[in-house]
Amino acid sequence: MGENKINKMRTLTEPFKIKVVEPLKVTTEEYRVEALAKAGYNPFLLSSKDVFIDLLTDSGTGAMSDRQWSGIMMGDESYAGARSWEHLEAVVKDLTGMPYVLPTHQGRAAERILYSTIGGKGKVFISNTHFDTTRANIEFTNATAIDIVCEEAKDNQSDYPFKGNIDLKKLKELVAKYGSENIAAIIMTVTNNSSGGQPVSMENYKAVRKICSENNLFLVMDGCRIAENSYFVHHKEAGYLTKTYREIAQEMLSMSDAFVMSAKKDGLVNMGGLLVVRDEAISVKCKNLLIISEGFTTYGGLSGRDMEALAIGLVEVFDEDYLHYRIMSTTYLGQGLKKKGIPIVWPVGGHAVYIDAKELYKNIPLKEYPGQALVCDLYIKGGIRCVEVGSVMFGKYDENGELIPAEKELVRLAIPRRVYTQSHIDYVLDVFDDILELREQKRGFEITYEPPFLRHFTAHFKPL
Ligand code: F0G
Repeated sequence: MGENKINKMRTLTEPFKIKVVEPLKVTTEEYRVEALAKAGYNPFLLSSKDVFIDLLTDSGTGAMSDRQWSGIMMGDESYAGARSWEHLEAVVKDLTGMPYVLPTHQGRAAERILYSTIGGKGKVFISNTHFDTTRANIEFTNATAIDIVCEEAKDNQSDYPFKGNIDLKKLKELVAKYGSENIAAIIMTVTNNSSGGQPVSMENYKAVRKICSENNLFLVMDGCRIAENSYFVHHKEAGYLTKTYREIAQEMLSMSDAFVMSAKKDGLVNMGGLLVVRDEAISVKCKNLLIISEGFTTYGGLSGRDMEALAIGLVEVFDEDYLHYRIMSTTYLGQGLKKKGIPIVWPVGGHAVYIDAKELYKNIPLKEYPGQALVCDLYIKGGIRCVEVGSVMFGKYDENGELIPAEKELVRLAIPRRVYTQSHIDYVLDVFDDILELREQKRGFEITYEPPFLRHFTAHFKPL
């Protein structure tokens, strides 16, 4: 697949040129110190105009192509049976091989509809790793969500290429323990966002399918980064070099009973989601919920122009030059950081680089949030915004009010699609020279305000 063509390019080069620009404000360190203090040392509370490079998320932050923008003009806003709906439905059916397509306003709406249909009290969901909104939607129905990522994922250093895999041995044990009748679904998150954006191998997926078939279990793909996952399968799994990225995605989807997608990632659009199912009876139940909460079946949570742009994005995302640039750009950042001696989750995932803040800021105790310290330093030193994925996000308290830290203290640098160039990424790497000078620092943080749920979004901090 075009390897030779691409490898001839010496510098990693964006396979697009820029037709519209969005100016960025260049700020001073003094300015940013003040802006961050005003935001309670929580970058979620910063104004985006004060951010230079925004690596908070890759979700809904991508740039659409000229073709997608043309599609916006061609959007058919008819309430029922719109042309744009027919276009989107055809593209999604072709990709997934599943007959029932439900458009939603974003991924979590698709999750709410599906999991409230098949979940409920006493039901168990098992996943390589549930994303936070997935877990929240499952637990909201009073069902239980269990994560069983493979053992290899626990070692941040090893070269194992598919650390997004599920632990098959544990899966079999859990099926035996809970009994198939109590298991609502097996959910494979592809790529595995909460576990470093790591890919899932076809071999692992096939083995999961086999267990599902033997035990009559429902297999859901949470596939918002399915194109990125296909890139890894093509390049790292034996036997897939002759298959296109799209064919690889189709093969994985052909084994699934349902597909939930936040289109804000590999759909290459700023808003949108999909719920796609194979079974008619389930589709009927889900469509009822779609109509009462999102919208009529031929638009759900989307306008005609959104559906048109998504139909085009779902084809563009499998373009070999695009995907190569996309994954290589993330890899370039990760390899550059590793070369500088910054501890990262290895190998580099698809949409983001995850830094091990516990390892980097060894002098900051876990109860003083080393990840938050790094997030703040990156903003102050370089105007870079990113997110802590550690004890601020997942920490709990014991009965004495002492912090029970999260399993890992990571900081995620997520790369928006088609937005930043190689020189932006070089700039990010340069800022880490300043971070390396802070390695011995001891300044942690204390939480001064926190809400009862999802505290990372709105908590306030005080530097110690
Ligand atoms: N599943 C996965 C694997 C996700 O990464 C996300 C969103 C969702 C579901 C929910 O989709 O946001 O459209 O409702 N992830 C974003 C992130 C928010 O920053 O990783 P949504």
